[in-house]
Formats: sequence, structure tokens, C-alpha cells
Amino acid sequence: MKPSSSETMSAVEIISLKRDKKPLSTAQINWFIAEYTADRIPDYQAAAWLMAVVLNGMTRQETSDLTLAMVRSGDQADLSDVVPYAVDKHSTGGVGDKTSLVVLPIVVACGIPVAKMSGRSLGHTGGTLDKLESIAGFQVELSIERFKQLAKENHLVIAGQTANLAPADRNLYALRDVTGTIPSIPLIASSIMSKKIASGTDAIVLDVKVGEGSFMKSLAEARGLATAMVEIGVDAGKAVTALLSDMSQPLGITAGNALEVREAIETLHGEGPNDFTDHVIEIAAQMIVLSPHSEYQTIESARDAARQAIQDGSAFGKFRTMVAAQGGDVRQVDNPELLPTAEFCETITAAQSGYIERLDALQIGQAVIDVGGGRETKGAPIDHAVGVETLHKIGDQVNRGDIVFRVHANDQARLARAIKRLHEKALAVATEPVEGRPLFYDTISGSPSHHTSR
Ligand code: URA
Repeated sequence: MKPSSSETMSAVEIISLKRDKKPLSTAQINWFIAEYTADRIPDYQAAAWLMAVVLNGMTRQETSDLTLAMVRSGDQADLSDVVPYAVDKHSTGGVGDKTSLVVLPIVVACGIPVAKMSGRSLGHTGGTLDKLESIAGFQVELSIERFKQLAKENHLVIAGQTANLAPADRNLYALRDVTGTIPSIPLIASSIMSKKIASGTDAIVLDVKVGEGSFMKSLAEARGLATAMVEIGVDAGKAVTALLSDMSQPLGITAGNALEVREAIETLHGEGPNDFTDHVIEIAAQMIVLSPHSEYQTIESARDAARQAIQDGSAFGKFRTMVAAQGGDVRQVDNPELLPTAEFCETITAAQSGYIERLDALQIGQAVIDVGGGRETKGAPIDHAVGVETLHKIGDQVNRGDIVFRVHANDQARLARAIKRLHEKALAVATEPVEGRPLFYDTISGSPSHHTSR
């Protein structure tokens, strides 16, 4: 990227400006990101700049400029020739968050095509690609041509990000990971939104998680991140709705890949847990109303349509078609008992009668890693069969001896580690009644012509 004639570009100067709390121009941000992507700015300068951003923040303009500079650093998918209007969703990550597996087939059954690029598990949070790979043969690595072809033919495809999608973000994220520069709202918001915008979407529903099991522990932090992402989307000409949803306890019952696929299939058959079913209906409805091509233009009619797509089997049919088209074994979808199962299963019971006060989603996610169902380092192998079932919700009344957790493992030592953690850190039972948690805390939405919080 060429600097404008009035500005001479220098990495040191750009770092110094941010250090001194001065806003950077669009040209300066474009230049810095383009030079870094071309390996002409070394990691130590980029790291210094990232730390200055963490400490001094960015304006809305700077955050949007950074996002678009990262979008332009690589390929951008153009879906306009295969779908009339692309609607996507993104979750900031949680435990038991199998939402995409159910929401996307519902949305497609309601007439809205979805071509989604998803991620893998990271830390204690699960990833859609790993869950789908529990199904034998399921292919997530698709060429962009095949991705678009499936979007056109079936209106539903879920794949991994293509290698050259927002490479500036990939490199900066890896650098942030080892330089203490992850926790910054402008950096997180621009990182997430650059990948969404580069993957060709017209509108996005963001599921921003709040609580122990998510990256944003407080409602104020989650609101800040949601607002920043909505603003970036609006500035880039996208319609965006952000839902702030609870992640203090796991979503649904299961956490762990094949267990979650099984629960997703049950939910598509109308037999899912209440909290997870209500969660997917809301996310699906928000996606449906974002499309100007939707038959359902009010949130109530979209919720009804989403429920109907479960009841009449059409959403399950879309899921089955997607699995078949991406090489997965549909016998496992028709008979979920054929999905991988673990050798050992042990239960944890309530040690006293009372009301469940804590079901710590972070510790439950860590217990899934303990048994081998998640990864702590990039690219590490995972065991699809293992995981943790949480049979209660915060606020439930339990009797001493009631089963709270079921832990599935293929290795006794790993099983013992998970059991110890859950016993010691994940569960608290109070003698006094405890209020349950809401599913959603707030909705923040914006479209290129207006921006509202309701
Ligand atoms: N997820 C991302 O994609 N980027 C971040 O910076 C944090 C979470």
C-alpha cells in the first residue's frame, strides 16, 4: 500500500504515535498491515505496536480501518454468484456450544442459504469443525470452488477457513498469543470481524458469550466487545445483530465432540434440552430476519418458522444432506448410537441436598481437555468420543446422591484427572434457593443506515 503524499511511513513513527495516544490515519494503518503481511515489518515492531494498542486503545475509525486492512491482506470469498444474500453467525466461544450444528440447518430450512467458515477448538472452548469430524468421513477442508458449489446446490455448507483468508490476522493473532496482547477489545473485535467479512457474508449474528466459560467474564466487557463488532460491521456495510448470552454454565447437557453431535441431532428431532433448544431458536430467528429475502420479517414469525422447521423434520433433512454432501457417514446421523463412544463412564453426584449454585463452565471445559476432548496447543490430536455431561442447571434443586456429571473417557488416568477437577472446582450446592441464569442478557444491533441498542 502506497503512503499518501503528505505522509511518510515509518514503523517506528506509527508505534510512537500509538504509544503517545495519538490516533493513526487510515493510510498509516493500511501501510503498517500491508508491510507486516509482506514481512517487511519484523515481529518485534509489530509486537510493540500491539502492546501500545492494548494499553491505549483505538478509535472506532482506527478499529474499522484495521479490520478492513486485515480483510484485504488475503483472499476474499465472493458468494454473490451462488447465494442472493449471505447470512453468517459467529460465537465468541463457549462450552457445550454446538449451536451452529442446529441453527444453520434450521435457517436453511426457512429459506435462507448458509455458507459458513468455522473454526476448531481452542483452549477450553469447542470448535464446530472438530464436532463435525466426529462423523466418520466428514470433510471440512474444501476448495473455495467446492464450497461455493455446495452453497449453490444444497444451500448449506460448513468448512474450515481457506488458507489465505485474512493472513494478517492469522500472523498477528499468533504474535498476540505469545506477547500478552490478546485482551484488547479493538484487537479481538477486528480479528473476529476481519475473518467474517473476508468470508463473504452480507449480514452476521454474533453470539457473544458472557461468564466463567467465555473469554469475556463480565457483562460490561461482553457489551464492549459486542458494540465494537457491531460498529465494525456497520462501517463495512453489513447488518449485524449481537446477542449477549450466558456462558457461566455449559449450554445444553453435553460438552465433547461426538456427545455434542448426538445432542444436536436430538435437538433437530425436537428432543433437545430446553435451554439449548430455546437458544438455537433465538439465534436462528435473528439470522432469518436479517435477510431481506426472508419470508419472515418479524422476530416472532421467524421464531415460529424456526420451531416449525424442527417439528416438520425439514431442518434435520438439511443437516443430513450436508453430512452426505461433505462425505460424512449418514448412518451415524440416522443412528447416533453409531457415533464414537468412550470406553469408561463415571458419575459425580451431589454431596448434599440443596440448590445448584455453580456449574463452572470453564472447569467443565477444562475437564473435557483432561479426558482428551479438546486441545491446549494448536494442531494437537483430539479424542472425539470423550466429554462431560452436566445433567442440571444452576438453580435446580437436587438431593444428596443425585447425578450431576457423567464423564466419558478412554483412559483411566485422564478420567481420574477430570473427576478430581469437577469434584473440587466445578460444582457448588447451596442450602438456600438460587436463581437460575437467563439465556440472553441483551441484544445490540446495527445496520448500515442505523445503529440501535434494545
Ligand atoms: N478469536 C479471534 O478470532 N480473535 C481474537 O482476537 C480472539 C478470539
